[in-house]
Amino acid sequence: MRLSPEWHAGIEAEERSFVPPRAPLRASSAGLWELVQIYRKSLISVFTKADYKRKMTSVRLGLLDVHTVNSPDLVREALQVQHEALQAKTPQMRHALKPLLGDGLFVSDRSLWAARRAAVGPIIHTRRVRDFAPIMLEVASEWRDAWERLPEGAEVDMLAEMAELTAEVISRTVFGRKLGREFTAEVVRGFSEYQEHVDQLDALSLIRAPDWLPRFQNSAARRALKRVHRVIDDVIDQIASGKGDSETVIAHLFDVKDKDGRGLTREAIRNEAIVIFMAGHETTANTLAWAWFLVSKSNRVRAKMQAEIDALGHPPKFEDVQGLIHTRSIVEETLRLYPPVPILGRQALEDTKVGKWDIRKGSIVMVCPYMLHRKGSVFSRPNKFIPERFDERIASRPDKYAYIPFAIGPRTCPGLAFGMTESVIALATLGRGFDPVLKKGHVVEPLCRLTLRPGANLPMILRRRTAGDTSAPAPREAAVEG
Ligand code: HEM
Repeated sequence: MRLSPEWHAGIEAEERSFVPPRAPLRASSAGLWELVQIYRKSLISVFTKADYKRKMTSVRLGLLDVHTVNSPDLVREALQVQHEALQAKTPQMRHALKPLLGDGLFVSDRSLWAARRAAVGPIIHTRRVRDFAPIMLEVASEWRDAWERLPEGAEVDMLAEMAELTAEVISRTVFGRKLGREFTAEVVRGFSEYQEHVDQLDALSLIRAPDWLPRFQNSAARRALKRVHRVIDDVIDQIASGKGDSETVIAHLFDVKDKDGRGLTREAIRNEAIVIFMAGHETTANTLAWAWFLVSKSNRVRAKMQAEIDALGHPPKFEDVQGLIHTRSIVEETLRLYPPVPILGRQALEDTKVGKWDIRKGSIVMVCPYMLHRKGSVFSRPNKFIPERFDERIASRPDKYAYIPFAIGPRTCPGLAFGMTESVIALATLGRGFDPVLKKGHVVEPLCRLTLRPGANLPMILRRRTAGDTSAPAPREAAVEG
């Protein structure tokens, strides 16, 4: 069942004042030099109006063929059916992240990837979320307490707040509770510095330079790298000598054995710990920041969310998460409009086909959830914020190849349930006591580096609320922006 036109008309009238901001649409394709500039600034600004409508766009960049897949049937072909040929990450991604992640799951492929996926997947998979939920609940309530100590109407940078909150959750999940906030901050600083200084373009791959040709890393990137590795190696040493917490991802990684009874090496444990920290932190932070922004712009969505949270009658618990259907739909709609990983890049390991298109070995295949999620043929009113389209009580679920914020196929995000649960818990815990609004005059623009963010920062004003107080409309200037 799709939502009826009458229902949409009602929503349309209500939401006429707000169209969520989107990346600019180009009139024509970018040339190579322009593309390099766009790549460095915000990659999702590269697509033309026509690209959004096409099923497949193919261009040649330097010596490299680049194909962009943009329809559910071709997503199925590229990420599921042709997984063997299209499982490798792009050379840009591999060369930028390998120094940091080593042979970690995120950048590996073939038998190494399969072995690591089998080891790491179950540790963070759905079944484990119940074990890790107490950490999510405790961190969210620490944040609520910290916000309560601020004066009424205090301004916060919601992007930074959510980045710290999710970093703390993943840090305690991976390394344990004993290390404290300074440790988390040190790791995050190292990641950001590394991301800032590392060459993400890898121009050598545009001339099809082989992988074994060494890539230059500047000294700032190398320093950041050393710091992250040292801090994490120290923690692993502590855990190995029995000084750490036992219910952590690292402790579980120590227990992993392959079919011949061999465990992971110390370096492999470190690499996978960094993968999980990195993959699970910024993605969830961006989701939450975008969600607060979107919710602050829609009186209807916000009032429904507050009513749902208040109806619990107590701060949310893990058992409540499943019943918070509207709050969950907000997270899903946020992930549709602003998928934190807006482009999934792969390199063909062999000659293959996607639909009727020939893909030569070495070519790049990009699947773009950001563009796919905004196709009118897939989602009605695709540029509007309508969480109800994910409310299974009134609408049918989108096709699994049309809605892919967590990717699809064998490389699907193993942290899906973790990220969804954490997001619902954070929104519900903080939304019970606060009603944040965007700072007057601040303009939000999507910015895509490795992940998609609401700009460099997101200033919001924290208004307090008490249960049952669902009527406070957003200030007019906040309601019409974007
Ligand atoms: C809302 C939050 C999240 C989103 C939107 C998200 C999205 C994604 C996407 C799209 C991929 C595939 C990337 C690609 O193939 O190029 C991915 C991979 C991955 N994610 Fe997540 N993720 C989220 C949260 C998490 C969390 C919380 C964890 C860990 C606790 C996690 C761990 C991973 C790992 C380990 C991979 C690599 C999987 C592989 O290569 O086989 N993610 N994620």
